[in-house]
Amino acid sequence: MESQLTELQTNASAAINAAPSTDALKEVEVDFLGRKGQLTGILRGLKDLAPEEKGKAGKLANEVKEALLAAIEAKEKELKEARYAQLGETEWMDPTAPGTKTPRGTLHPITQSFRRAEKIFTSMGFTIADGPQVEDSWHNFDALNIPADHPARDTQDTLFVRDTEKVLRTHTSSIQIRFAEENEPPFRIIAPGKVARKDDFDASHSPVFHQLEGMMVDRDISLAHMKAVMEEVVQQIMERDDLKFRWRTSYFPFVEPGLEVDMSCTICDSAGCAACQQTGWVEIVGCGMIHPNVLKNCNIDPEKFSGFAFGFGWDRLVMMRHKVKDIRLLYENDTRFLKQF
Ligand code: PHE
Repeated sequence: MESQLTELQTNASAAINAAPSTDALKEVEVDFLGRKGQLTGILRGLKDLAPEEKGKAGKLANEVKEALLAAIEAKEKELKEARYAQLGETEWMDPTAPGTKTPRGTLHPITQSFRRAEKIFTSMGFTIADGPQVEDSWHNFDALNIPADHPARDTQDTLFVRDTEKVLRTHTSSIQIRFAEENEPPFRIIAPGKVARKDDFDASHSPVFHQLEGMMVDRDISLAHMKAVMEEVVQQIMERDDLKFRWRTSYFPFVEPGLEVDMSCTICDSAGCAACQQTGWVEIVGCGMIHPNVLKNCNIDPEKFSGFAFGFGWDRLVMMRHKVKDIRLLYENDTRFLKQF
């Protein structure tokens, strides 16, 4: 067997040396060392040898195999180098030319700021709730103290889905109704999401926009809790600690009393600019104490529990934070704009 092995080594070495290409080299490897190759064939005779012969032959077979593998590797390198050298003569490339970069996406600025706000609110014990964008009238209107003949339906006019009582939700208050129906107080939630209203497109209006609403329901909740939460959250979202706030009474059917909060304009620092219509203030959130009827509609006893609710017009807040002058920029998907975030 030893002589068979040395003979195989000689033949294989010759074949390796003579291989004209890497493909041919691969064939040589399979032929001599492959699973059904010549070496395997020889080793099939091992079982007929005397024990001490077996050991010697096995060792030699291993050495032969190692040597041949090393030779194959060396030859492969040689063949590749030769090929590259040849290419170098016929082909040309400029290694200093700029490459083509695969563009990498980022999260939309609205999504980014939702994620930031979610962190801020969860750090204050709020959880995040979600709900459908196509909503039924009960959750979008009736449960919120807006019956079918209520004039507030006009101000939140939206698209009805044909032949159904379903609408594209006009606010994410509907998410809060769904949550309150299913859960027992105390709870604190936020409801970020996309909403639709009958609005024309201009610099500060879009028929589709975003809201981040929320509520806190517990025993003995008062306006003071609401004021503290709103002002703290807005400072953190805007990453400023010098903002001024103005609280105005307002009307929403689902809260009593209802308020609106203005923030000092961050674009002009209250000096007056187009974004704040020269007033130095921008309206950012509607809020109030949840109306007892709304609590009752969700099977919560208004004698035991009270709560506040709020709804941020989110796009406007994002615009204030990044000094974006036109809401349409947020919806045009122009990468020159989006790349900046
Ligand atoms: N749902 C109101 C809107 O869309 C915002 C709001 C929420 C106001 C909660 C008060 C309390 O305009």
